[in-house]
Amino acid sequence: MTDFTLTPNRRNPNRLNKWTMYPKDVLPMWVADMDFSAPKPILDTLHKAVEHGVLGYEMASPALKETVAARMDSLYKWKVKPDAVVATTGIVSGFTAAANIACTPKKGALIQTPVYNMFYEIKNYARVPLLNAPLVKRVDGNILRYEIDWDIFAKQAKKAGMFLLCNPHNPLGMIFSRKDLMKMAEICIENDVLIVSDEIHSELLLDENKFTPMAKLSREIEKRVITLIAPSKTFNVPGLFCGFAIIPNEDLRKRYEQEVSRMTLHVSSMGLFAAQTAFSGKCDGWLKDLKRHLTGNRDFLVDYVTQYMPAVRTTIPDATYLGWLDFTQTDIADPYEFFLKRAKVALSNGKIFGKDGEGHVRINFGTSRALLQQGLEQMRRAMQ
Ligand SMILES: Cc1ncc(COP(=O)(O)O)c(C=O)c1O
Repeated sequence: MTDFTLTPNRRNPNRLNKWTMYPKDVLPMWVADMDFSAPKPILDTLHKAVEHGVLGYEMASPALKETVAARMDSLYKWKVKPDAVVATTGIVSGFTAAANIACTPKKGALIQTPVYNMFYEIKNYARVPLLNAPLVKRVDGNILRYEIDWDIFAKQAKKAGMFLLCNPHNPLGMIFSRKDLMKMAEICIENDVLIVSDEIHSELLLDENKFTPMAKLSREIEKRVITLIAPSKTFNVPGLFCGFAIIPNEDLRKRYEQEVSRMTLHVSSMGLFAAQTAFSGKCDGWLKDLKRHLTGNRDFLVDYVTQYMPAVRTTIPDATYLGWLDFTQTDIADPYEFFLKRAKVALSNGKIFGKDGEGHVRINFGTSRALLQQGLEQMRRAMQ
């Protein structure tokens, strides 16, 4: 059993990270990395590389591509050829490359807000317009769920070159149903829109939840999808910057590979080595323990908010270690500023996920139970 009470100290004053960005008395519960060490097999791999001593350039090897393809088969029975796998510097560069090939100033990128803040950067990085199909909030007591407004989605798809799907969704933590995925795919196919499915959080499943990659739904859909995955969130190695695009459609893949090379999206050797170990199955015991721990933290968070902050609404995430709290029914206009100043807790400001995120914050529960409890208690006291 991995001990998820251990959160190594990252407060090195010569570094800038989740723990040093804010003053020392602030508890950081913002950026999406966890407070735990990466699994030992990955650390062993990295140690070995350092001991060997030569840190030269490395490219994604056939063995690594086979490992990625084999993982898709073992997780989802999704059979992809190793050749379909393209390594990228990460997921943000991966979807930027996709926008460069699929969008134009007249054919934008369709997103569903509130959504991961870097999706907005497509307009700067790829210089293409963003088209929004906001998710619709549904409230049941203090529990939030979000749904798709199909009329808006279909209307925006007509103007889109690419649909950037976030599944599981950051910051909402939801896994889209098969039915919804099918309908989104159908609309995209009708309008000749490329689907780029950011599935970076797909292995961080809570409870006994299951996940189906968009591209696995049918061979027809698979031809239109670029699937983006990475070991970074699952195994807590985001600083190694390594991700993969899976593109079974050969023509599309060629165009994508050209763009990746034009953008010089090289991957660090350490990122590639870590990915090989992460996806080999050697870390699956660690991941099983992690998911149990995160499920417990999610339950703790939802129960705590329900019991002690009844005016605050919360999602019940299906996946991820990200909670989404809604303060619009309280008198706290700017919860990010409020909790930073009054509770000394740094959350992610809901505004960065879109206009519809105003009055909300994202809370990172990828930490020990003790730190999660401490953060929530500081927040509760500040509200009192
Ligand atoms: C949905 C989503 N996509 C992409 C990323 C970042 O990916 P990368 O660091 O590989 O660019 C994150 C990080 O939080 C994320 O939540």
